[in-house]
Amino acid sequence: MSRQLLITSALPYANGPLHFGHLLEHVQTDIWVRVNKLLENDCTYVCASDAHGTPVMLKAEDEGIEPEELIKKITKDHKKSLEGFYISHDNYHTTHSEENKKYSELIFSRADKKGLILKKTIEQLFDESKGLFLSDRYVQGTCPSCGSENQYGDNCESCGAKYEATELKNPISTFSGQTPSIKESEHLFFDLSLLEKEISKWIKDTNLQTAVKNKLKEWFDEGLRPWDISRDKPYFGFNIPGYEDKYFYVWLDAPIGYIASLDNFLTNSASNITAEDIWNKNSDVDIYHFIGKDILNFHTLFWPALLDAGDLKKPKNVFVHGFMTLNGKKMSKSKDNFLLIQDYLNLLEPDYMRYFLATKLSNGIDDLDLDLLDFQKKVNTDLVGKFINIASRSQGFLKQFDNKTSSALDEDLLNLFAFKKEEIFNHYQDRNYSKALKEVMSLADQANQYVDKNEPWILNKDSKNKDEVHKIASTALNLFRILNLYLEPVIPQTSATIKRYLRCEDTIQNIDNFLRDFEINTFSPLITRIEDDDINKLIEACKNG
Ligand code: MSP
Ligand code: ZN
Repeated sequence: MSRQLLITSALPYANGPLHFGHLLEHVQTDIWVRVNKLLENDCTYVCASDAHGTPVMLKAEDEGIEPEELIKKITKDHKKSLEGFYISHDNYHTTHSEENKKYSELIFSRADKKGLILKKTIEQLFDESKGLFLSDRYVQGTCPSCGSENQYGDNCESCGAKYEATELKNPISTFSGQTPSIKESEHLFFDLSLLEKEISKWIKDTNLQTAVKNKLKEWFDEGLRPWDISRDKPYFGFNIPGYEDKYFYVWLDAPIGYIASLDNFLTNSASNITAEDIWNKNSDVDIYHFIGKDILNFHTLFWPALLDAGDLKKPKNVFVHGFMTLNGKKMSKSKDNFLLIQDYLNLLEPDYMRYFLATKLSNGIDDLDLDLLDFQKKVNTDLVGKFINIASRSQGFLKQFDNKTSSALDEDLLNLFAFKKEEIFNHYQDRNYSKALKEVMSLADQANQYVDKNEPWILNKDSKNKDEVHKIASTALNLFRILNLYLEPVIPQTSATIKRYLRCEDTIQNIDNFLRDFEINTFSPLITRIEDDDINKLIEACKNG
């Protein structure tokens, strides 16, 4: 039975270009969306740029433009990079939108009516020269616990201690280099502790990854505390209704941006349903979020709590992935180890990288490394050497039959390949892409062995073997067709080119329609090897990231 799915990737901040960490997440999500579409589930995939917060405000200031202009420019640029990688969003909106304002205010007012919003006066570090309250990342000082210097305002990288920024010794504002003052201000808090039962129930009923459940248990053991959801001016965000100069903290309206993007999509489509129809508690739609492990607490504590407060539906699951490292090291701009999506797009075909990332992805939250030499080797060995090779070998013989396949095929082998559909797509569904692709490549090996074993190049020397040669080449081509259908969610562009070459628009739904007595197009190299020179250029790009 067909299911209705709403799928999201985390909303990238609109304060700079997208890099390969973002790519990993979008490729992971996009493959899952395509898999579900191929399985004939009704999927909608939305995303947006996360437009609010201090970094966006400061970046716009730096560039001497209004934040609105900056986010327009960056959102457009993000969209272009992701489209370049064939990421198939149904909608890419921004959190600085009317729809998001509406839903943020709605959820806030429902929470307020339920008595979930508290007011508390807090002390914060304030940069007098900049006129800015300093969030944790804009202060550095000495750890109050171990005395380590140059630590940020929330925790110590040296000893792991957690503290308030005001507890740092010798704090320094990273803007002015001056000692900040301590200033009082009234903040609004969302009282998470009152929803402990509801969040626990959601966690219990949800098939979260084990590592995620363990992390959640740690937070519950520490006790849920009220969450600070307001920021004082100057801030770029939505003004909180009824409070002058107070704004929603970026992380309050960011996930609501998922709802807003869907709402914007529905408004622009012919449909007369609204996002609230889909997000209401009784809807049949299953909501799935793909996120990185750094934003786990926002999606598995605060977000379900906000949805509960807003009488809206909670996610069916939150799929968490690990962090990507580049050539064995943390991705870092300042350390010349950083790869932008756009830089890759200027050099190489996206499907190569989609394939490689997919071979690294499982449903765990471990970090994964992008080693560029490994990338080259894997793509050349698997996609070119094993997969495409089957088509080139087959086509060498099919030419002499006017590019037409025979009516006789080695059915047993073809059936065996087609029979693997369930296993492979189950791996994809479980987000075990690496396992799915291992299976596909082992079939590619079998297809090549089939040709090797039958030695058509020897049979072809004697015209009495004509039918046999035709059958072998046609079977190999049909095996290739099946493998192409298995690879379709991972390498959509290549797969579409191959379908045109085969003159056949099938999907896995009609995998058993083998091509008999069927004329295909003339073979042209479908994809080519990645050369050393390409990799050298990519390595250069990492240095200029
Ligand atoms: N704006 C928030 C998300 C709001 S969602 C309601 C944010 N933005 S981000 O641009 O910093 O990150 C967007 C996504 O990219 C997150 O899921 C994050 O985990 C992921 N990644 C960013 N760097 C990454 C790697 N190096 N590796 C893998 N994913 C990483 O957080
Ligand atoms: Zn310390």
